[in-house]
Amino acid sequence: MALLNVNIDHVATVRQARKTDEPDPVWAAVQCELAGASGITVHLRQDRRHINDRDVHLLKETVASKLNLEMCLSESIVKIAEKIRPDQITLVPENRAELTTEGGLDCAKFQKRLTAITKRMHKKGILVSTFVLPDEKQIAATAEAGCDAIELHTGMYANATKDKQIEKRLNELRDGRDMAMAAGLIVHAGHGLTYRNIGPVARIEGLCEFNIGHSIISRAVLTGIGPAVEEMKMLIETPL
Ligand code: PXP
Repeated sequence: MALLNVNIDHVATVRQARKTDEPDPVWAAVQCELAGASGITVHLRQDRRHINDRDVHLLKETVASKLNLEMCLSESIVKIAEKIRPDQITLVPENRAELTTEGGLDCAKFQKRLTAITKRMHKKGILVSTFVLPDEKQIAATAEAGCDAIELHTGMYANATKDKQIEKRLNELRDGRDMAMAAGLIVHAGHGLTYRNIGPVARIEGLCEFNIGHSIISRAVLTGIGPAVEEMKMLIETPL
């Protein structure tokens, strides 16, 4: 059964709206874990627009489940990951102007760097995942770099509106899963997943971990973070 990691970046985004000390993502992480989340995901961006160094340090001390640090390939961020030692890193592309992560990481283009980073992380006991489109070249490059896992980008599925399009995107995810598993990679998925669209993805066998942020934190504003996490977990565990 797939596990749920809650991405709590948006909690820090609200805090940064006033550059104050509330809401605290560390408190949010505790609430997510109490509600049954299997992991906490945060993206330490180079511009520190939401999650900052203090958050990651404290989350490393307080998260009892799994801390998954999303990050780009930049050396300064890699050094921070080596020092903090999250349980897992997920390597993502990062553009300063984007609202959220756009597209997958070009693992083929950056394969040398990816291989070097993976070796360094493995020395510290950190699992390495890459955020990729369900594309053969990218999946092969991830496996060749020695990574442990891939996170399949579900954004195109989430954006599809017509039944035919949705089925096409689901098939791409299934094919991506098959390629990744054949290459010995663990398969995660995430981006754009909501209470409405999680069902068909949750039914894809072999997906081990979902990273979901926006939809859960949006619902949490209205229902509280505990019920929001519990409901998503239920949808993942007992899909229609
Ligand atoms: N996975 C990755 C790699 C991401 O960059 C993000 C967004 O931070 C997510 C999952 C979560 O996406 P969403 O906020 O749309 O659930």
